[in-house]
Amino acid sequence: MDAISVIRTKRDRGELSPEQIDWVIDAYTRGEVADEQMSALAMAILLNGMNRTEIARWTAAMIASGERMSFGTLSRPTTDKHSTGGVGDKITLPLAPLVAACGAAVPQLSGRGLGHTGGTLDKLESIPGWRALLSNAEMLDVLDTTGAVICAAGDGLAPADKKLYALRDVTGTVEAIPLIASSIMSKKIAEGTGALVLDVKVGSGAFMKTIEDARELASTMVALGTDSGVRTVALLTDMSTPLGLTAGNALEVRESVEVLAGGGPKDVVELTLALAREMLDAAGLKDADPEKALADGSAMDVWRRMISAQGGDPDAALPVAREQHVITAPSSGVLTRLDAYDVGVAAWRLGAGRARKEDPVQAGAGVELHAKPGDIVTEGQPLLTLHTDTPEKFAYALQALPGSYDIAPGGTPFAATPVVRERIA
Ligand code: URA
Repeated sequence: MDAISVIRTKRDRGELSPEQIDWVIDAYTRGEVADEQMSALAMAILLNGMNRTEIARWTAAMIASGERMSFGTLSRPTTDKHSTGGVGDKITLPLAPLVAACGAAVPQLSGRGLGHTGGTLDKLESIPGWRALLSNAEMLDVLDTTGAVICAAGDGLAPADKKLYALRDVTGTVEAIPLIASSIMSKKIAEGTGALVLDVKVGSGAFMKTIEDARELASTMVALGTDSGVRTVALLTDMSTPLGLTAGNALEVRESVEVLAGGGPKDVVELTLALAREMLDAAGLKDADPEKALADGSAMDVWRRMISAQGGDPDAALPVAREQHVITAPSSGVLTRLDAYDVGVAAWRLGAGRARKEDPVQAGAGVELHAKPGDIVTEGQPLLTLHTDTPEKFAYALQALPGSYDIAPGGTPFAATPVVRERIA
């Protein structure tokens, strides 16, 4: 077997054999296949695709590159959620403790942000003292004692994906549906969860820009999970405008705590509850009442225990950026569009995200929204507030925003469309 013949097969639109797939994933993980060869293969896959048999084998090979975890010792059923990534997507923060408060165990192995999408670990690291890196034993202990844990996936879990994801990120090959599906599902299957709910984002701020692509990605992942014995459901959810009223690390933690306190923006509450119901249902906890767990403070209690168990202080003040810049509405009317991608890029440029894996992020940086599509705005009122510690970043962030919103003069206010667009099981 050699890398060039594997690349040629896919370049010429052929089907990769199980032996070719097993070999190339193993050899790449061991360093025998070079980055430039894997880049060429990833680009051939992006351009020519893989069929369901190839994707299933590719996923199995990535799982086999590392360890498989087991939650068999826990007394509660395990259920997990994975989002394909969006702007202002802080849902994991209120969701994990909420579902735990309803009786499930939630092992949430999360990632960091890259590009315009934020990462759950970066958000939680804005809480003073909170630690993302836990050993497998520590992770099981937090899960067992609090019902939920949000932490970094260990190096042993699907190491082939770790290497390949970093390579895709710098070779323009992130958006390939077979590669996204196998990347996400290899980690989730190796993690050993019993049930999985996928939040597949669709719209300008998501990797999938069209509903057709989102459907294809969702059904590929549902089939991979189901075939591996994981009860898997996907919701296709809107990412044409940011979720909630904040994009940025500490800003999003603040908003998540508001949701856990029974408040928070309507769309964040709506999606948190929709995903909680699916996770509980998939775990067999059909009588659980997540709405009650938000209202009676039991989800907040789990949040506080979960943050403390990982060294964080749930009562500590969150970091605030040193500088703010307010963008005001240039005219009066109804805000008809506020683009998720543009807001995500602005937040990233302000310091909330990173351009390279090793870059630090600013805890307080990001964008705060003062209106959502459907709201009436008045000329001169604040529309967006930009936050950063480094004011020289304002000009670059502002370049992302012209054309990112529309205001219809004299328009009629309208209710936001439901966040959940479709369900695929
Ligand atoms: N998230 C992942 O884990 N992998 C991808 O390829 C895309 C999003």
